[in-house]
Order: sequence, then structure tokens, then C-alpha cells
Amino acid sequence: MNKEILQLIYLVGSVSFMIGLKMLSKPDTARKGNLVAAFGMTIAILGTIFLYDGIKTSNYGWIFGGLIIGSILGTLSAKKVKMTQMPEMVSLFNGMGGACAMLISAVEFTHLTHNYEIGALPHGQLLIIMLGLIIGSISFVGSLVAWGKLSGRVGDKTLKLQQLVNIGLLVFILGIACYTIFAGPAETVTYFYVIWGLSVLYGILFVMPIGGADMPVVISLLNSFTGVAAAMGGFLYDNKVMLVGGILVGSAGTLLTLVMCKAMNRSLTNVLIGNFGGGSSGESATSPSGGHIREINAGDTAILLKYANKVIIVPGYGLAVAQAQHVCHELEELLESEGVGVKYAIHPVAGRMPGHMNVLLAESNVSYDKLVEMEHINPEFTTTDVVLVVGANDVVNPAAKTDPSSPIYGMPILDVENAKNIIVMKRSMKAGYAGIENELFYQPKTSMLFGDAKGTLTKLVAEVKAL
Ligand code: TAP
Repeated sequence: MNKEILQLIYLVGSVSFMIGLKMLSKPDTARKGNLVAAFGMTIAILGTIFLYDGIKTSNYGWIFGGLIIGSILGTLSAKKVKMTQMPEMVSLFNGMGGACAMLISAVEFTHLTHNYEIGALPHGQLLIIMLGLIIGSISFVGSLVAWGKLSGRVGDKTLKLQQLVNIGLLVFILGIACYTIFAGPAETVTYFYVIWGLSVLYGILFVMPIGGADMPVVISLLNSFTGVAAAMGGFLYDNKVMLVGGILVGSAGTLLTLVMCKAMNRSLTNVLIGNFGGGSSGESATSPSGGHIREINAGDTAILLKYANKVIIVPGYGLAVAQAQHVCHELEELLESEGVGVKYAIHPVAGRMPGHMNVLLAESNVSYDKLVEMEHINPEFTTTDVVLVVGANDVVNPAAKTDPSSPIYGMPILDVENAKNIIVMKRSMKAGYAGIENELFYQPKTSMLFGDAKGTLTKLVAEVKAL
């Protein structure tokens, strides 16, 4: 009877994961989606603890001890984390998933060698254990390195011929794993530990050379690795919910990686080999084509804004750095109260992590219907009086459409240059993530409002109120 109830729980858990994942795709249902998926995970865990035959009650102390410590640490760190540190936390949590898959493989390998003679280990199980070990170890160590790089504890280090070394090492690991599984040598146990050690080394070498700002793409890729490694555990234990959960994480992570690469117009190979941008720092008041910038002050900007019919705010990475989302929302509400229509234009890779701008603006309670995706907002710029570009750069760079030699050529961008007036708020003429000049800043309709986004937006609020 317990077995049937457990299967039913697993079914409900699996369906909850899928519904939760679907709900995560829209900002207004994302929070609930998270809860739905968490509910599925909770019943799956509790069902396994209390109804699964293989669990000894004498182990409850260990299980609940681990659950309590993990829950306290998880809750505290999730509450403490700043929005700009979110990719770091995701990376660390993802690493824990990889570590679990890796340890499951280690434990099950020991069980297998106790139950069977070396040389007669079942190939299928050994294959799954090896895959879980290799992928889990890469994901665990790679995520830790990614976390270290994002938090500034680890720098970008590239060995000579790094890519060649990496490919060689991966081929060697896979080769020795195949030999161990199918030839069943007397040294199987030793080889297992060698494969483990080399996979850990590969995890470090794989992530080490990747540029800091490319980390979100790599974290998403590592996330998909963790999913695949967890699915191996599902096969091993014939556990449907673990299998479904792992496959969902694996496929969602892969799709997210591809979507991010597509939105940046880069191939995955290009991200992994990492040679994006790095051109000029762009600190110049004259464009390469000879144009000059025009500065504007907060007072004149406030007049433009207050007497506009329609304003579009384009948030970017600088908004997150300045933590200016609350005052940005205040300005939006103030303008709305003056009869100005205000919307936000959301570029898919604005900021440094997927959904960065949605999360940031949701934090300051901006209404979801004001957040308009790129393909829907682009036709609206022609009827817009003022575009306020707040700490965004690459996502509004016309070079993506006009300059085939540009590293961002082909990346879809927000067509802000079609609006009547463009105000760009940033601190200097420095380039954004891609490290390239932005001709938009030198166009006749564009005015630069220099300063930290939070300070400048605060001034704008005061100036609009004073009018
Ligand atoms: P960026 O092109 O990086 O530009 C951000 C701008 O914000 C900078 O030019 C900077 O200029 C300004 N800024 C920084 N701090 C500021 C502050 N305190 N106040 C005001 N301005 C500030 O950002 P974007 O337009 O959002 O584009 C994102 C880029 O990141 C894209 O190239 C994208 O491909 C890449 N990327 C995105 C992701 C995801 S998933 N979102 C992942 C990896 C890479 P100053 O220094 O002059 O102020």
C-alpha cells in the first residue's frame, strides 16, 4: 500500500514541478510557480522519508539533522543576499546539487562493489554511476569556481593552450571511464577515484578561463549539468520524481543557456572560449565618426518628462548597480500622476542574469503590465516623446544593426533611436559589457545626463515635483 501511495505522491510532485516551471515563465505568476514547485519537492522528500521501504528509521536523526541545518542555512542566505549577488547564490546552490549527485555516485559505487565481484559489475549501473560522478563533480567544482569569480575571490586565469588541454582531459576521462565500465579491470576501484579526481580538475579548468560577465551563461549550463546528474540518480534508484526533476532542470538549463546565447547573438563555443568585447573602453566625448555628445541637466530633463505624453524607461545593468529601482518606480508614479504614460522596455539580456530587470523592478513593486518585452515595445518607440535609458548601454547600441564588424552585430536591440528625445543616464562615457563605443550617445536626438543612476533619478523626482 505504501508503495502505491508513494507513486501517487511522486506523480503529484512531478506534475507540480511542470506547473511550477510553466508559471515561472511570467513575472506575475513566477512567485506562485516557485511555491508550487517547492510544494512538489516537499511532498516528494517527505514521502520518500516516511514511505520508502529502503529507509531505516535509525537514520532519521541524520536525515532530519541534515534537513534542518540545510533549511536554516538556505533560508538565511536567501534572505540576506543582495539582488546583484543573485547569480553568486544560484551558482553556490547549483554546486550543492552537483555535489549531491557526485556523492550519490560515490556511495552507490561502494554498494555495487560490495554486492558484485570486480570484473562482474553490471555495466548499466556502472555507466550511470560514472556519468553521475563525472557530470556531478564538474558541476560541483565548476559552480564553486564560478561563485569565486563572481564574488571577486577568484580571477580569470588561462593556461597556454587551455582549450586543447581541456578537450584532451575530457576525452581522457571519458576514455578511462569506458575502459573501466566495459573491460572491468582489476584496478576498477583505483580507476574510479582517478576519474573522480580528474573530473574535479576538469571542473576547475573548464570554468577558469571564462570571462566574469559570461558567468550567468556558464552557470545556466552548469545548472543543466546538475539536472542531468540528478536524473542519473533517478535511474539508479528507479525513482520517477528524481528522474523527472533532473530532466526538467537539465532541459530548462540547456534551453536557458541557448536563449541567452541567442539574445546576445553569440554561439555557446564563443562564450566558453570567451573572447567577447574587450574593444575600446569608449571613454571619449567624440565618436569614431566625428559626432559630439550633448549634455543635459536634471532640470531640463524634468521639463521634458513632465510635458511628455509618453515616456519609455529602458533599464540596464547600471540600474542594478546603483540600486535605483525604488526611486525609478517613484519617478514613474510621479509622472503617471501628472498624466504621462510610462512603460518599461525589457531587453532579454539587460543586466547580468536572466530576468534581471524583471526581478529588480518587481522588487520595487512596479506593476507587471508596465514591463514590456522587446518585440512588443520596439514598434512603440516611434510614438514616444522621451526615452530614459537608465544604466543601459549594449542593449540600445545601434551598431548591432549597422556595423557588421561589431561583436554585437546581429544582437536584437531596443530601437530607442526612433523616439523623439533620448536621455541616457550613466556616470561617464565608459563602455558597457561588450566594451564597445555606442553611436547612440552621439546622435542629435540624444542627450547625456551624467551621474550615478540613483542620485540622478532622485534629483529628477525633486525637479519634477518642483515644476
Ligand atoms: P551594459 O551594456 O553592461 O551597460 C551598463 C552601463 O551602466 C554601463 O555603460 C555603465 O556606464 C552604466 N552604469 C554602471 N553603473 C552605473 C551607475 N551606478 N549609475 C548609472 N550608470 C551606471 O548593460 P546592459 O545595457 O544592461 O547590457 C547587458 C550586457 O550584459 C549585454 O551586453 C549582455 O549581452 C551582457 N550579459 C547579459 C547577461 C544576462 S543573462 N542578462 C549575461 C551575461 C552578459 P558608466 O560606467 O559610464 O556609468
